[in-house]
Amino acid sequence: MKGLILSGGKGTRLYPITFNRAKQLVPIANKPVLFRVIEAIQEAGIEDIGIVIGDTGAEIREAVGDGRRWGVRVTYLPQEAPLGLAHAVKISQEFLGDERFVMFLGDNVIQGGISGLIRQFASSDWNSQVVLTAVDQPQHYGVAELNEQGGIRRLVEKPRNPASNLALVGIYMFDHNVFRAVNAIKPSWRGELEITDAIQWLVENGYAVHPYVHRGWWIDTGKPIDMLEANNRVLAELSHQVEGYVDRDSKVDHLVTVERGAEIINSVIRGPAIIGEHTRIVNSYVGPFTSIFHHTHVEDSEIEHSIVLDHSKIVGIPSRIEDSIIGRDVEVTYSPIKPKAYKMTLGDHSRVGLL
Ligand code: DAU
Repeated sequence: MKGLILSGGKGTRLYPITFNRAKQLVPIANKPVLFRVIEAIQEAGIEDIGIVIGDTGAEIREAVGDGRRWGVRVTYLPQEAPLGLAHAVKISQEFLGDERFVMFLGDNVIQGGISGLIRQFASSDWNSQVVLTAVDQPQHYGVAELNEQGGIRRLVEKPRNPASNLALVGIYMFDHNVFRAVNAIKPSWRGELEITDAIQWLVENGYAVHPYVHRGWWIDTGKPIDMLEANNRVLAELSHQVEGYVDRDSKVDHLVTVERGAEIINSVIRGPAIIGEHTRIVNSYVGPFTSIFHHTHVEDSEIEHSIVLDHSKIVGIPSRIEDSIIGRDVEVTYSPIKPKAYKMTLGDHSRVGLL
């Protein structure tokens, strides 16, 4: 089997965090979502992975390279515009050939491995397998209606009146018949070639599409709030370890990871939390569900339930920072210089909640 990861698109809903970055590279518990996806596919024994890239392709190529780090071979598949998930399959035909493949959305995080599922599909005679899960707001997803036997009756992309609460999770498995489907369908109301319509075409034309209902959690990290949620879930399940330096005046509990080269000085870190490589936490409190990425400096401040990206600086903040996502190379500091006022340089689409 081969793997296909979709990392094209623009990610506008994650502005400003992805203003000029690939959303698939935003770290969750200090590891980019895309790396988690590559690991999940590699764990299933797949060595050939195609990555569909768009505007942010250069950054993705630089971060992932040739895949050797994971023991896989990566082929980049440039898509001229985000014309839909089925369009992404279409442009990947030459890479995929006649092999069965698993397609994974590069911005989705799912609990547990998917190796079992992939192996099950590899040895089955199904033409496709889709992964479904119950969600609260099915209208935001592709939705499946099942029949009495548990088979698929109908699939609809982002329906106004969903027939069930079962959403299509961003993991799909196909054999070569999917190319007939993606060539047969027409663009949807949003102008995209929908993979949901392609699978519906397979169902209508008598191909075997097997639905698997996933019981664990799954998060599409489409919006900033979803990033925090995914961060909570992954941090809670991580096996933690301290590789950096923790001084004697600090308290770091067993649910905290301190990565190589990080320093914790006179601070309290309450897990689950992760402190990135070469990050310094000085005279500070870092509370549960916080991921602070590499080369960041936190001093005389308190922060919890937040994500901080690399090369940022948080110094002398008098009240606790919570529920926040702080981008790269950001400075949040306290300035005693008069006039006493908030002084901000915020990028487009930033959000600030002041007391
Ligand atoms: O997250 C699950 C949902 O993903 C499914 O329930 C829907 O049925 C499916 O259509 C899809 O919906 P989204 O609207 O959330 O997809 P999005 O546009 O966010 O794209 C998902 C990923 O695929 C993202 O990493 C970008 C990449 N992509 C997207 C498009 C449209 C591409 O690589 N090429 C594209 O043309």
